[in-house]
Amino acid sequence: MRYPAIAMVLVTMLTFAGCQSMGKNSDPPDSLYHQLGERSGIASIVEDLLYRIVEDPRINEQFRGIDVRQFHTNLTDQLCELSGGPCTYSGRGMRESHEEMNVTATQFNALAENLILAMEENDIPTGAQNRLIEKLVPLYPQIRNL
Ligand code: HEM
Repeated sequence: MRYPAIAMVLVTMLTFAGCQSMGKNSDPPDSLYHQLGERSGIASIVEDLLYRIVEDPRINEQFRGIDVRQFHTNLTDQLCELSGGPCTYSGRGMRESHEEMNVTATQFNALAENLILAMEENDIPTGAQNRLIEKLVPLYPQIRNL
């Protein structure tokens, strides 16, 4: 059977489109990383989170004197990687970096709450907010040194 040329062109276009969307570095529009606005969106969320931390008397003492730029880069990379993005977190492990802090459950929740508010501020859909928070739950025992 012979196909008209237009059909062949369409098949070729669709095949290429399919390859692109299934490629190794694909970022489907419904991926958590994409919903968070990719790395630049995550960087903006982390920046707003930092402002909230400074204003929050439940946790701001713990952050006194830290290297803010380093913290911003590391947390952005961590959230990027956790959400499926093409980043590699190169900071310390969560147990090691929080070891001496005696982070309480209330403080952990306060940070999570500030992260949710920062996501809200950046118009992240509620479903995506919840998916990111779910990714952080396994870090709880490491951060609290339990
Ligand atoms: C979901 C919760 C949390 C996540 C994902 C998280 C993530 C991180 C990351 C990625 C770093 C950078 C580590 C490095 O630079 O090597 C960090 C450092 C830090 N975190 Fe957390 N953290 C969380 C909760 C908390 C809480 C609840 C507190 C205190 C109230 C806290 C206090 C700090 C401080 C003060 C540093 C800086 C340590 C330093 O530079 O020496 N974190 N955290």
